[in-house]
Amino acid sequence: MTFEVAAEAYGRFMGRYSEPLGVVFADWVGVRRGERALDVGCGPGALSGVLIERLGVGHVAAVDPSPPFVEAIVARFPGLEVHRAPAEHLPFGDDDFDRALAQLVVHFMQDPVAGLAEMARVTKPGGQVAACTWDLAGDRSPLNPLWSAARRLDPRITGESHLAGARAGELAILATKAALTDVESDEIAVTVTHPSFEEWWEPFTLGVGPAGDYVQSLDPQAREALREECRRGLPDAPFEVTAVAWAVRGRV
Ligand SMILES: C[S@@+](CC[C@H](N)C(=O)[O-])C[C@H]1O[C@@H](n2cnc3c(N)ncnc32)[C@H](O)[C@@H]1O
Repeated sequence: MTFEVAAEAYGRFMGRYSEPLGVVFADWVGVRRGERALDVGCGPGALSGVLIERLGVGHVAAVDPSPPFVEAIVARFPGLEVHRAPAEHLPFGDDDFDRALAQLVVHFMQDPVAGLAEMARVTKPGGQVAACTWDLAGDRSPLNPLWSAARRLDPRITGESHLAGARAGELAILATKAALTDVESDEIAVTVTHPSFEEWWEPFTLGVGPAGDYVQSLDPQAREALREECRRGLPDAPFEVTAVAWAVRGRV
């Protein structure tokens, strides 16, 4: 899965959930001043921004394979060390970081175990590797209102529920396979208020991620039917979406 989309579109589609998630995830892993941290699959910088605030820009590095996201994060955080690279091939030496974190990325890695193992390689012994992924197999991801409506119209739709780390316990299995120790799992959540149905729906039409690809693949009639089904499934605006992510952390 590539994210060859404008950072602005990503922000409206997913940044609205991943920006607040970055704060909750950084709290959960226990980021502490003085350490050096890596944000893997940084996108336009939801988690990087939190790490920079807490650690200082000189103590953070970020990587992502998407050219527009790399361009966006370079512009957003002057002085940040940024590389265009996938998790599976990190451009760092061994033991470079105290923590390597991946927020909403493991399910897009070509090889999640190799990606987590590579995150461990660049982290010092005793350091931490952590990741989080939406509860895509349950009904608590921010994409659930869309995928549930799509499934009501076409029961063959699987959405993103099959992706790595989407189910309870899967991230811990991947982390253990990547040779992390003292592996701990939890749920973390954010609640976002949507002022109108249109504000919620419109970003799904921008072609971001699998949900955006799916909406763009529909002809105008099918898209309208999906939009109406989403509207039926959501409360009257303003409404809240509580988005839950599986989180895992382990020692190197
Ligand atoms: C849902 S976005 C998450 C972005 C950001 N971490 C956030 O929380 O907003 C998924 C990101 O994973 C990146 N990605 C896809 N495949 C990857 C891989 N193999 N290694 C690292 N990042 C990857 C995408 O380019 C995209 O930026």
